[in-house]
Formats: sequence, structure tokens, C-alpha cells
Amino acid sequence: MIKNKLKKNAENVDRFLIRFLNKQNKSILVKPMKYGVIEGGKKIRSTIILDTGKLLKIKEKKLIDICAAVECIHSYSLIHDDLPCMDNDSLRRGKPSTHKKFGEATAVLAGNSLLTLAFEIISCEKSLLTNYQKNQIVKLLSNCSGHTGIAGGQEQDLKFEHKTKKLNQIIEMQRKKTGKLFNFCLQSVAIVANKNMKHRSFFGNLGEDIGLLFQLADDFLDEKGSKKLIGKPIKKDKKKGKSTLINLMGYQNALHFAHKLKKKILLKLRKHGKNAKDLIDTIEFILGRNF
Ligand code: IPE
Ligand code: IPE
Ligand code: MG
Ligand code: MG
Ligand code: MG
Repeated sequence: MIKNKLKKNAENVDRFLIRFLNKQNKSILVKPMKYGVIEGGKKIRSTIILDTGKLLKIKEKKLIDICAAVECIHSYSLIHDDLPCMDNDSLRRGKPSTHKKFGEATAVLAGNSLLTLAFEIISCEKSLLTNYQKNQIVKLLSNCSGHTGIAGGQEQDLKFEHKTKKLNQIIEMQRKKTGKLFNFCLQSVAIVANKNMKHRSFFGNLGEDIGLLFQLADDFLDEKGSKKLIGKPIKKDKKKGKSTLINLMGYQNALHFAHKLKKKILLKLRKHGKNAKDLIDTIEFILGRNF
């Protein structure tokens, strides 16, 4: 079952992160960093990396540090996303947001430290990747996290509040703020599998589509989900005037758009046969989920 798979993967990634942090010198930021990244969240990006590992026949032990690095970047982006200067949300993963618990300055610094920790993890000597693979992964992860990825998309998300934006502008913003990290999740496994550029792009673009689908589902949950199940406030996108597909075309049309996108993704995966089963299960979960 997908729930068990997510839980098992999350536990493995948490264990890796605790060990990694415990081997470093202590600092007063470790507590808020752990609060932001460990014991919380679905860790779905890790599951997608491991599902892609099944597809390309790469073992989990070669991918676990990539999973941990992605979760650090993702959690940093959420810590900052919740700050008063951004979405101003007080609840995350069923508990007070990091800045509510530790204060804003600490949340900014813990977020920064998770961002840089990701690159320490990838470049660690203990990793089973070759130096060339690490180099390519660092380059891609930077590209997917900075101004051409999460940060750039988050800036657009905020600038688009209370504005009328076109479909392609909203999609472009969502591909950056959320899609790009999913691009990384698939493409990094293609790098580990020593795939050529054409194949890398195929997996990257497929990942980006999955990420877009994931953000659309997140927007649906904001409108119709349960605060208790998703562990964060609901009905906030409308209040904040966020530019979403729901806001642009209405809930039903946006849902139809998402189902068409899911179909397109599944069609691309079909040719990979039974090796794609785990990834297909996770994609089904993404649009059908209630948490
Ligand atoms: C929430 O991501 C933010 C988006 C990019 C939509 P998740 O739904 O993966 O958050 P957690 O990690 O499970 O809390
Ligand atoms: C956040 O999107 C995307 C990020 C890259 C952090 P949202 O602002 O919709 O995420 P939630 O709903 O707060 O989790
Ligand atoms: Mg946001
Ligand atoms: Mg938010
Ligand atoms: Mg949201």
C-alpha cells in the first residue's frame, strides 16, 4: 500500500538525516532544522526518487543521500514559505510552523542551513556516486532550487497575488516553484544511471509534469481538503488572492485539466512496462490523495 511505502521511505530518510547531523559539530540551529525536516511531511519526493530507481534499476543505497538532500531543500522552502513576509501560515504538518515555534530570525537561518546541508550531503565522500555524478547533481540541484527554480517561482507566486494572470503564466510559475524539484527527482536518478542528455531531459520533463500535477492537487486540497488530514490551514489561497488554476477557470475545469495532465504522464510511462509500476502508483496517489 502507498501509505506504508511512504512511511517506510520517510523513516529511512529521517534516519539518514539524523545520522548525518549527529556526525557534524553541534550548533544551536540543529534543533529548529530537525523540527523543520524530520518526523513530518510525506517525503513524497524521496518516494518518487526511489520509484524512479526501480524504473532505472538503481539500488536504494545509491539514492538515499539524494533523497535526504531533496527533503532538506523542500523543507527549507516550506519554512520560508510560511514566514509572515511570504504566506504567513502558522500551522505546518499538524504543528506550529518553524517561525511560530522558534521565531522568525531562527526560521530564516534554519532554512538557509537546510539549503546548504543539501549540498554537503551530495558532496560527501561517503556517497556511492562518482565525482562526475556528484558534480552533475550539484549543478542540477542548484538550477532547480534557485532563481530558475523554487526561489524564482516563489517570487512569481507572491508577485501574482491579486493579479489577473494568463494560464501559461500560472503554469510557468507552478512549474518553477514546485515542478523543478520534481524534475530534479527524476533527472538525478537518470544521472546516476549514466543516461545521455536526451534521456535525462525526458526524465526531467516528466518529473516537472508530475510536480505540476502535485501542485494542482495541493491547490485542490486547499479548496476542498481537511485541515486535520493535511496538517495545514485550508481555504487560504482565495483569501490571499493567489493565482491558481482554480481561481482562473473554476474548480471543475481545473480538475479536468489535472486529469488530462495525469493521462499525459501515464502515457509516457507506459512504454517502460512493469518497471514503472511503483511510480505509476505514486502518480495515482498524487491526484487522489486526501493528505
Ligand atoms: C507542500 O508540499 C508544498 C508544495 C510544494 C505543494 P508537500 O505536500 O510535499 O509537503 P509535506 O512535505 O508533505 O509536508
Ligand atoms: C509552496 O506552495 C510551494 C513551495 C515551493 C514552498 P504553497 O504555498 O501552496 O504550499 P503550502 O500550501 O503552503 O504547503
Ligand atoms: Mg506559497
Ligand atoms: Mg504556502
Ligand atoms: Mg498550497
